[in-house]
Amino acid sequence: MDSMSFILFGSTGDLAKRKIYPALYNLFIDKSMPASFSVVGLGRRNWSHEELQRNVEDAVRTFSRNPVDEEVMEKFLQTFRYHPLDVTKPEAYEDLYQYVQKREEELNIKDNRMFYLSVSPKLFDVIITNVKNSGLSDTQGWKRLIIEKPFGHDLESSRELNRKISTVFDEKEIYRIDHYLGKPMVQNLEALEHSNPVLQALWNKKYIANMQITASEIVGVEERAGYYDKVGAIRDMVQNHMLQLIMMTAMRLPNEINAENIRNEKKKVMEALRPLSKEDVAKNVVRGQYGPGIVNDEHAQGYLDEEGIEDDSKNDTYIAARLWIDNDFWKGVPFYIRTGKRMKEKSTRIVMEFKSPYGRRYEDQDLEPNLLIIEISPNKGVTLQLNSKNSLNNGKLEPVHINFSKDQRDLPEAYELLLLDAMRGDQTYFAHWDEVEMSWEWVQPILDVYEQDEAPLYLYEAGSMGPKAADRLIHEDGFQWW
Ligand code: BG6
Repeated sequence: MDSMSFILFGSTGDLAKRKIYPALYNLFIDKSMPASFSVVGLGRRNWSHEELQRNVEDAVRTFSRNPVDEEVMEKFLQTFRYHPLDVTKPEAYEDLYQYVQKREEELNIKDNRMFYLSVSPKLFDVIITNVKNSGLSDTQGWKRLIIEKPFGHDLESSRELNRKISTVFDEKEIYRIDHYLGKPMVQNLEALEHSNPVLQALWNKKYIANMQITASEIVGVEERAGYYDKVGAIRDMVQNHMLQLIMMTAMRLPNEINAENIRNEKKKVMEALRPLSKEDVAKNVVRGQYGPGIVNDEHAQGYLDEEGIEDDSKNDTYIAARLWIDNDFWKGVPFYIRTGKRMKEKSTRIVMEFKSPYGRRYEDQDLEPNLLIIEISPNKGVTLQLNSKNSLNNGKLEPVHINFSKDQRDLPEAYELLLLDAMRGDQTYFAHWDEVEMSWEWVQPILDVYEQDEAPLYLYEAGSMGPKAADRLIHEDGFQWW
């Protein structure tokens, strides 16, 4: 792998601590980092190199999935340097440029530069402009940009942001992180379908009655009121993670698997996704907000009582929706999504419900449908629900489960897989601009309706599985949530 500089904006922040440093360490200990690399951490604070290194060390000790090896840790920390930077000051980037170059010379590495924006989206614009004007992005080697969500606040602002970024980086150089695409079980979806003729044959409208994607969380708004109260579940989860899961589940696999082909197929899913008019929103999308309730046997306060939330906030902490993909493979099969905070369980999963058997042979019995359940996180595994005769119970048909679950400990974290891909230059599991733009297009009428408060906001009890209205949505079609 090419030697490189990893230039991290936001090196004193929470994401760096929880995800980026542990991921880099795990790649390092697995010998997946380039033989030679420099990490330059940037931030407003006046830290020394040692202070950054101490913070990196703490982060790794707290969050790494691999136990720490002291010798490896020492070498790892030596790759880190801190450089204070006021990102709004153009002249500060001159110093940064010189510093990055100095490290490249010291380590005798090429000017391959990875710019990682782990900062507030308000700063994306000014950073990109200053990086460009300072000459930092004029490299002989490669340059790449890793950018975290949120990618814009709505359709218009995301287009504006993209226009800005495109003046400095080509689409091929932009790595838009959607960490759901880094989850091992999401990356396993294509293999599951295409290496198993049994599943491949059934993965279409002829056999599937409906698809359900759930991403429920137990946590509430936590310390992120300032951010979350402005975005809600619709921007925080649906526009990105949920629609990416829809694309990954519904796409047809190309003959040759590479980033370009996969992205093309995902784009086709979005092109076939039936747009919502404003009138369709209330019929197909349910928004909810958690009220007080019991979570893990303890009283949990409602959203409006959380610190930093406006008393009259109409923000959605829960969204359920029915979507249709109007192409040859999925026409007529409803896709349901639901996601929310302060729900009963933490679970991200995809459930495919198969159509009932033809004929009336078992009319006298309540047959459970066949289900294929793909657990993405925190559990990871696949379960197939079939029916089988139980001779100990008068020969009644009962559901049985064929269950495969993955040893949780050894699986790499999403950020490890994604950072490794970015360093290798593989964009397969990063969101292309087309996908992001089409996702905003689909979501925009919902944002408009909520902005005007033209749809009901349903309260649900903390610790429940969401508002009753979401059950009605799916019952209307004769189904239930799994
Ligand atoms: C993030 C959202 O993108 O995803 C958070 O901003 C959410 O609000 C998180 O909690 C969920 O991720 P995971 O990996 O825990 O399912």
